[in-house]
Amino acid sequence: MPPTQPIALYIHFPWCTRKCPYCDFNSHAVTAGIPEQAYIQMLLRDLDSDLAQLDVEPRLTSIFMGGGTPSLFQPAAIAALMTGIKQRMDLPSSIEITMEANPGTTDYAKFQGYVEAGVNRLSIGVQSFNDQQLQALGRIHSAADAARAFTAARTAGFSNINIDLMHGLPGQSLAAAMGDLEQALALGPDHLSWYQLTIEPNTGFYRFPPTLPDDDALWAIYSEGLTRLATAGLNRYEVSAFATAGKQSAHNLNYWQFGDYLGIGAGAHGKWKSLGRLQRTTKTRAPKDYLQTPNPKTRVIDAEQIQLEFLMNSLRLNAGFSWATFEANTGLAKASLDAFVQQGTNKGLLAETPTGLQATPLGIQFLNDLLLLVD
Ligand SMILES: C[S@@+](CC[C@H](N)C(=O)[O-])C[C@H]1O[C@@H](n2cnc3c(N)ncnc32)[C@H](O)[C@@H]1O
Ligand code: SF4
Repeated sequence: MPPTQPIALYIHFPWCTRKCPYCDFNSHAVTAGIPEQAYIQMLLRDLDSDLAQLDVEPRLTSIFMGGGTPSLFQPAAIAALMTGIKQRMDLPSSIEITMEANPGTTDYAKFQGYVEAGVNRLSIGVQSFNDQQLQALGRIHSAADAARAFTAARTAGFSNINIDLMHGLPGQSLAAAMGDLEQALALGPDHLSWYQLTIEPNTGFYRFPPTLPDDDALWAIYSEGLTRLATAGLNRYEVSAFATAGKQSAHNLNYWQFGDYLGIGAGAHGKWKSLGRLQRTTKTRAPKDYLQTPNPKTRVIDAEQIQLEFLMNSLRLNAGFSWATFEANTGLAKASLDAFVQQGTNKGLLAETPTGLQATPLGIQFLNDLLLLVD
């Protein structure tokens, strides 16, 4: 028997109803309908090809259907995908299976269908509860649509729901940002991803920059928001991730702990250990080319890069990481970080824990400066 290895599965769905001007994900506005069946078939072929590359028996730990907008797909297509995965891999009964949903693309019947297909965690992209703001963000739904989607998802049986909310939006006041948080909290989400809007190259906002709140206003939103979320029992466990007890995202935790994952779908990337090396695999990016062939491209990650990538991810977590995880997921020895630990600790950005290392609150706030200390 080959050894077993924990591994997560990311599945990318590259279509959206419309492209939002702030978004640099591999997502494309649907023009002539979505070839659902052909795409699902290609995803499974893609999975077969990844599984054939593994030199260990994979032990699936989570599945995440992200995008793009997976909720544009009909439940029957998601059910066919889940059946195909189960034919290829063992699914533990308690495994977290997340799907991202855009409130403008869903209804109660669809949610019910996703639950029946086996999806047990939903991530709803709300972004804001202010209709004017939603328009400026190019969203296809209103605040009321988002609240309705949340309630419909609960009624359909989702007991684990994340809301994606952004802050630092164009022209946003402190009161408006806090109002968004209150409306999200009123719905009682199990998890909240609270992202500060960033302006990314190759987006509409990069070409035509909106006026964003100044640094003082951003700081006020950030610090008041953190206080409010803590009071509401949504505990911060990563820079932008907040959860009620027991509802941290297993899939995202695996990324932040630098665990292995397969990535299937247009432009998806995976990362896993093979033959004693750590490798990254990427798939054809454009949906129409992917439908011809996923064409996986693999490259080995060198030791220096592994160390930096591990730290970039793990130090985002409030709890930091254990030396056991560092050694298991990087293949490197603790001693390789001695100089970094000493410098970071001296500057008050790092603290050693009984079993490992964590960024201090100051270190999390100035993560980029902290990472510059890695040699
Ligand atoms: C792949 S998208 C989500 C799902 C779905 N397509 C939707 O928008 O409803 C993941 C999340 O990243 C966040 N996001 C995307 N672009 C961002 C940006 N430029 N700055 C901050 N957050 C961003 C949004 O909150 C978004 O919901
Ligand atoms: S934010 Fe979501 S809906 Fe908007 S373009 Fe990106 S992936 Fe699509």
